[in-house]
Amino acid sequence: MSQAASILPEPAADVPAQPPRHVAIIMDGNGRWAASRHLPRVAGHREGARAVKRTVSAAIRHDVQWLTIYAFSSENWRRPAGEVMDLTGLLRQYLRTEIAELASNGVRIRFIGDRDRFDAGIRDDLAQAERATVGNTKLNLTVALSYGARAEILAAARAMGEAVRQGRLDTDALTEDAFAGFLSTDGIPDPDLIIRTSGEQRLSNFLLWQAAYAELVFLDVLWPDFGDEHFAAAMADFSRRERRFGARPG
Ligand code: FPP
Repeated sequence: MSQAASILPEPAADVPAQPPRHVAIIMDGNGRWAASRHLPRVAGHREGARAVKRTVSAAIRHDVQWLTIYAFSSENWRRPAGEVMDLTGLLRQYLRTEIAELASNGVRIRFIGDRDRFDAGIRDDLAQAERATVGNTKLNLTVALSYGARAEILAAARAMGEAVRQGRLDTDALTEDAFAGFLSTDGIPDPDLIIRTSGEQRLSNFLLWQAAYAELVFLDVLWPDFGDEHFAAAMADFSRRERRFGARPG
């Protein structure tokens, strides 16, 4: 082997691909998808719900254990009332029609975010979906609803302060791990890979604490068009990244 060849990295094919344990997705572009077809925005959201189904299947096929999707941000409440109703209606429909299939595929569903802002009917549906899938372990699907990372971090800081004030927590024990235990994602590993569709390159108040070391992949596809090939492309991109967590290369 020539000297030049010996300093090349091992070919990727020799390295068993380690799938990301946790993939999180900012599903963006439903409105633009609909507008480009002269359809109402709700048509984009409806097609977006179908893309969610495809993505859950793709995650299972790729041995991803945790999948988190940003379905409704705390800022989305500012959209016109009709669109908010369309989105919550689609969510309810999704829960009612898909939960049996999710459960039979071994999916456990959880919700993070401020569910108190939803009406009692939706809150019941969310609790019911969580209960129905609590024993499943194949894929942990977390749906962020009425979620905003700054509000989550502030609530955690308040709860931690209260625990100190009541003497349940010592100031010496104020570690990063202890703080993470006050977040809504307590018990969920940090995302290894965050995908955002539609070409926008922002985190938009999504998992800001948890994203500290995530690899970010921005794809030029509108969410309703997202399919297996895009999921596979993001996974391939992830496998090429060298994750150092702030350390120097070995
Ligand atoms: C962003 O597109 C997407 C959303 C605000 C909502 C995501 C919702 C779904 C995929 C459907 C329902 C979800 C579930 C879990 C069944 P946008 O409207 O901001 O698009 P734009 O930036 O092109 O206007």
